[in-house]
Amino acid sequence: MSKKTSSVYLFILGILLPGMIIHAQPSLKVTFQNQFLVGAALSGHRIMGKDRAAMDLVKEQFNTLTPENDMKWERMHPKPGVYNFTVADRYVEIGESQGMHLVAHTLIWHNQTPDWVFEDENGNPTCRDTLLMRMRDHIYTIMSRYRGKIQSWDVVNEAINDDGSLRDSKWKQIIGDDYLEYAFTYAREADPGAQLIYNDFSLASRAKREGTLKMVKHLQSKGVRVDAIGMQGHYDMTYPRLKELEASIEAFAQLGVQVVITELDVSVLPWPDLPPGAEVTGRFQYHPELDPYKEGLPENVQQDLSERYASLFRVFSRHSDKISRVTFWGVDDGKSWKNNFPVRGRTDYALLFDRNLKPKPAFDAVIKINP
Ligand code: GLA
Repeated sequence: MSKKTSSVYLFILGILLPGMIIHAQPSLKVTFQNQFLVGAALSGHRIMGKDRAAMDLVKEQFNTLTPENDMKWERMHPKPGVYNFTVADRYVEIGESQGMHLVAHTLIWHNQTPDWVFEDENGNPTCRDTLLMRMRDHIYTIMSRYRGKIQSWDVVNEAINDDGSLRDSKWKQIIGDDYLEYAFTYAREADPGAQLIYNDFSLASRAKREGTLKMVKHLQSKGVRVDAIGMQGHYDMTYPRLKELEASIEAFAQLGVQVVITELDVSVLPWPDLPPGAEVTGRFQYHPELDPYKEGLPENVQQDLSERYASLFRVFSRHSDKISRVTFWGVDDGKSWKNNFPVRGRTDYALLFDRNLKPKPAFDAVIKINP
């Protein structure tokens, strides 16, 4: 080869190689495409186009989305008769333009629901009939607008206590134990084609698993269909034990429903003295010893986190006949809610992308588990 020809080759390689290296970055959605969808939760800021870099990463890596806060009752329906569709409409546009599977979170919950929902004009608890009417109006209005566009709905969020009993929420107090039957029935009527989900945290814990099984079986005995159980994966380095996680996935699948992992993150920080999970009202005082990795994550913890993520994904992958979706609660460590829960102002490392949106060793470990 002449000197001239070889320098032309080198020149061409010099152009191609960097491009090839950039495109060699594997993606979660392609890696798991034969197993389950992989998704991320989006903040309103990101949905409204104020973080281009994060959205580019989302489009590259994920094939399903969930809005982190913007489809909760307080955002969508802040006052009687007042609905706010701006962010949700934009969310649907993004999902549609990318051909992504869209999830709505969440219709009926005890948190982030304004007081007026449960009160009469004097501020006293309203009656069962009025609350059922409000529930129906809320579900019909929102689901009809996005019928055929949003495929999956968290219909009821967090109805079960850690001991497996039904949470004594205002929904239960005012309507009664049968409020879940109504919520799922209204949702089914509003969009018969949608996947309807019951979503909760700590579902890998035995008592809560049993309580959830009992509740879903009861709904089924009344002819009310739940399509999927959403296991919020707010995990840490030890909770849940993999055996317990598998036991729940298997038990839920035996009900004839799908399992979806809906809010995955893995905290590396010490958990103050309260039950594991995500009861969002629980907050603890900041102490420096609760925030050990402010200056960066030591290599050994980075490795432990990678191994922890890999072992979780090995379980998901093994049960991919039962699991249709795995959604992370956020995209990157910087914007994860875990920096502020259950203690405000800490530095956590709960996701697969770092504060510069770069893949972490945990990302590589997850990608590698797939044969
Ligand atoms: C729960 C809810 C989510 C969110 C998280 C914290 O898991 O389901 O909507 O509020 O807590 O971000």
